[in-house]
Amino acid sequence: RSYATQKSLFASYSKTRKDAASFSAQADHSEHQLGTTLDFGVGNKKTDLTVSFEKTLQGKWLKNNAWKYGFVLSYPKDKESITGYIYEPWHYRFIGIETAKEFKDSGLILQEFLALKPQYYK
Ligand code: DAL
Repeated sequence: RSYATQKSLFASYSKTRKDAASFSAQADHSEHQLGTTLDFGVGNKKTDLTVSFEKTLQGKWLKNNAWKYGFVLSYPKDKESITGYIYEPWHYRFIGIETAKEFKDSGLILQEFLALKPQYYK
């Protein structure tokens, strides 16, 4: 996702939602701009990009198996005070297969885990 796209998305959400910053990052603050993050969906407006996605077969599968393919959930449930974003069961970031296993075993959320890995930012 480009800078321009993220800027436009945030501006668009902000027009109608006071809480836009809780589910949309400003330009240069989105994992999507890194090119490592995907929003998964099933092609159903009722569940895609909503918390209901966690109840779909695909959402459940991702929750249990995404790490095996190097993807991890960026914004887990009940961690808004740490992540700054609402629970997004559709938003997964690729961190690599070996690292995803280490992440899963850590029991941390992604922001906590990455904070322990300053070498990943060099
Ligand atoms: N939905 C996430 C927070 C983003 O806009 O990157």
